Amino acid sequence: MADPRLEVIDRRIAGAKRIVAVSSGKGGVGKSMIATTLALTLRQKGYSVGLLDLDFTSPSTHVILGVEGLQPEEEKGIIPPLAHGLRYMSIVYYAMDEPAPLRGVDVSNAIIELMAITRWGELDYLVIDTPPGIGDATLDMIRLTRGIQFLLVTTPSRVAFETVRKLLELLRGLGVPVIGVVENMVMRPSGRIRGLFEEAGAPNLGVIAYDPEIEDALGDVDRLMKTGFAETMAGVASEVERLTLMRRPMA
Ligand SMILES: Nc1ncnc2c1ncn2[C@@H]1O[C@H](COP(=O)(O)OP(=O)(O)OP(=O)(O)O)[C@@H](O)[C@H]1O
Ligand SMILES: [Mg+2]
Repeated sequence: MADPRLEVIDRRIAGAKRIVAVSSGKGGVGKSMIATTLALTLRQKGYSVGLLDLDFTSPSTHVILGVEGLQPEEEKGIIPPLAHGLRYMSIVYYAMDEPAPLRGVDVSNAIIELMAITRWGELDYLVIDTPPGIGDATLDMIRLTRGIQFLLVTTPSRVAFETVRKLLELLRGLGVPVIGVVENMVMRPSGRIRGLFEEAGAPNLGVIAYDPEIEDALGDVDRLMKTGFAETMAGVASEVERLTLMRRPMA
């Protein structure tokens, strides 16, 4: 029998015109940084933007945004509070700063629960930060989120390429649109990884240099948005604007 919560989720996200999941086969490649900066950049361009942190075991977008003490409002569900202009939803509101060890089925339930209670309202973009790897969380997110599109993140390493290529194939197999690939933490630009992804049919959305300024800018959004990282992300955001498919809201 179909889970009745799925229909609820569909209604909850119906007002989001485009849903972009930032994902990678690999951990530690910069997904959270890219998801957060993408959301902030789109907001600066005047769009209404939501940011959903679906990394339940190690949420980190709140650290990048430097938000503390925010609490969602409860009203026939949960209204995500505003953080630097973003409608921002994360498990940290509920887990506080305690570790939240969850097993597979609990992760699924937590994701379903969070998505079923969150009232996003009208959004031009809903950006989702995802946990690393191709696990239950990724598969659940795909199953639960009609109209989801993926932005993939790799590093210049072939180790990253191989895992991201698998995710790309998985998404293709499931018929889920992939906007393209961002190459992050590049120290010696070569175009090699870009070429490999282009051969696989995934456009490059940007090449981000390794930026030693980033660490000091964590938690300080004004400073973050002035880094070289954010400057390159402005180009990525333009590509996302150009290449994302409009998701028709439900009638
Ligand atoms: N271009 C960059 N230059 C320098 N440091 C970076 C860059 N991109 C990300 N980082 C740093 O690398 C670390 C990992 O980034 P981030 O947490 O965004 O990766 P992630 O893919 O979300 O990791 P996880 O898989 O654990 O969720 C962070 O400390 C971040 O500040
Ligand atoms: Mg992360």
